[in-house]
Amino acid sequence: MKNETSALSPPALRTGAYWMPFTHNRYLKANPRSRILARAEGAYYTTAEGARLFDCLSGLWCCPLGHAHPKIAEAVASQVKELDYSPAFQMGHPKIFSLAERLVELAPPGMGQVFFGNSGSEAVDTALKIAVAYHRAKGEASRTRLIGRERGYHGVGLGGISVGGMAPNRKMFAPLLLAGVDHLPHTYNAAEMGFSRGQPQWGAHLAGELERLVALHDASTIAAVIVEPMQGSAGVLVPPLGYLERLRAICDKYGILLVFDEVITGFGRLGEPFGAQRFGVTPDMICFAKIVTNGVIPMGGVIVKPAIYDAFMTGPDTAVELFHGYTYSGHPVAAAAAHATLDALKEEDAFKRARELEPVLERGMHSLKGEPAVADIRNIGLAAAVELEAIAGRPGVRALKVFERGMEEGMLFRFTGETIAVAPPYISTEAEIETMIERLRVSIRAAA
Ligand SMILES: Cc1ncc(COP(=O)(O)O)c(C=O)c1O
Repeated sequence: MKNETSALSPPALRTGAYWMPFTHNRYLKANPRSRILARAEGAYYTTAEGARLFDCLSGLWCCPLGHAHPKIAEAVASQVKELDYSPAFQMGHPKIFSLAERLVELAPPGMGQVFFGNSGSEAVDTALKIAVAYHRAKGEASRTRLIGRERGYHGVGLGGISVGGMAPNRKMFAPLLLAGVDHLPHTYNAAEMGFSRGQPQWGAHLAGELERLVALHDASTIAAVIVEPMQGSAGVLVPPLGYLERLRAICDKYGILLVFDEVITGFGRLGEPFGAQRFGVTPDMICFAKIVTNGVIPMGGVIVKPAIYDAFMTGPDTAVELFHGYTYSGHPVAAAAAHATLDALKEEDAFKRARELEPVLERGMHSLKGEPAVADIRNIGLAAAVELEAIAGRPGVRALKVFERGMEEGMLFRFTGETIAVAPPYISTEAEIETMIERLRVSIRAAA
């Protein structure tokens, strides 16, 4: 009798053991059902309760070709049978060498080698380590200082939170933050650039703050500057016109490496392979992750200029040149997923598609101006954010309400702080993007 009953009722969901990342665990676990995703196909998730949700942020910015992509799924399945794992150290496999070649080709001219890890956080920590070790290898061991930017997000490694600029991600771990890190000011100014479309006109001068940091610390102590070309996690903060160019020029002047964290902007989110191409500025290193495998298998890494790689290629040829790497660096299944993703991006002309959809998203998102509590709207490429006025004394609750209403409207929005961000899949139709925006409008009104 007991068995019969349990066979008929849905299995109990026991949530206690799972400590969920970047999540309000207690709030969610009090009513988890609507938040459990059971399936995904194309641009839609299906929840355990059977609700269909449009994937407004392409997963967490990582699945723009849609879920259950047949070619990527096939590549992963056959790779598991062919070579499921290959030791990352002192050994290789064909697909990772050819993937490195393809990534260098996709990157702006002048890049040469790729170091692989498994996430954006690992990519960032790898780039920071390479920067410091590079200067040391070149006989400039005093260049150890790292410069990030306020409101920057570079993952959750100790390096990434140190150069990152988000107080909640730093304050709990203050004693663990790296010494010798400084920050550029963020580029956001509501009065000067509110409701701007694409790159704001105002703000290039803020790159000049790097000159101030050089004057303060001396160039001989500075290894690298790391910025996201477009700050995604901070709520789509778009670089002012001329800002990145100026950063590049100042880094060149003082021999400082410029690192672009392209974990979100890589692989077409801005309509070009990387933000570097979109903004016409080539850094010395590019961090990537997310879209490289369409989110199917974790992979991340750093693309570097040959001069950086070459600086390490000294000493006896039997010696290990860089004491860094992960068990799963260049994992064969991730490599297979990445090859299939690069194939699909090309076959589906995905960068062009993102460019075509950009004006649709821009027009629609800016039509939300004037809706209740909308404080700002920003966009570039196939990414946009609406910033809402906080409810007095209840920070973050308005965006949470929009998110919850959005689920009822069939939309999976991303909310952080007072911001709702959208970055729809490249495979979206114009009608889907327009529907997403209308449902966002309804959700914002409902949260008023
Ligand atoms: C710019 C940037 N860098 C690094 C990361 C961290 O990536 P991961 O969560 O894969 O470690 C993210 C994640 O969103 C990101 O947006």
